[in-house]
Amino acid sequence: MPWTDLAPAADFPEGSQRCIKHADHPLVVMNVNGTLHAVANVCPHAGLPLGEGERRGLTLTCPYHGYTYSIKDGRDLDDPEFGQPLRVYPVRIEGDAVQVDLAPPAEPDA
Ligand code: FES
Repeated sequence: MPWTDLAPAADFPEGSQRCIKHADHPLVVMNVNGTLHAVANVCPHAGLPLGEGERRGLTLTCPYHGYTYSIKDGRDLDDPEFGQPLRVYPVRIEGDAVQVDLAPPAEPDA
């Protein structure tokens, strides 16, 4: 799937954390020190929205039961080996627009 425009880049100033629904994908987009990160606004633990959770550095903690995820690779930092990962979306700035790639993640090789 090609990259799709999400919003103007100016909507994501440094330190911002915004919940956006785009093409049926609930997203949380964060600007951390000038780098954009996009993750699903669906907590893998119980499916609740975690976009209002507390971000510290490259982690996001769900406000419901406190599970913490890496916003870089989606790992469940409370249970990195067996925890269900948070979906991470590729995100970039193209011209004046923030774009995300909504394609399903590639399946790992069997
Ligand atoms: S729903 Fe997020 S930690 Fe339970």
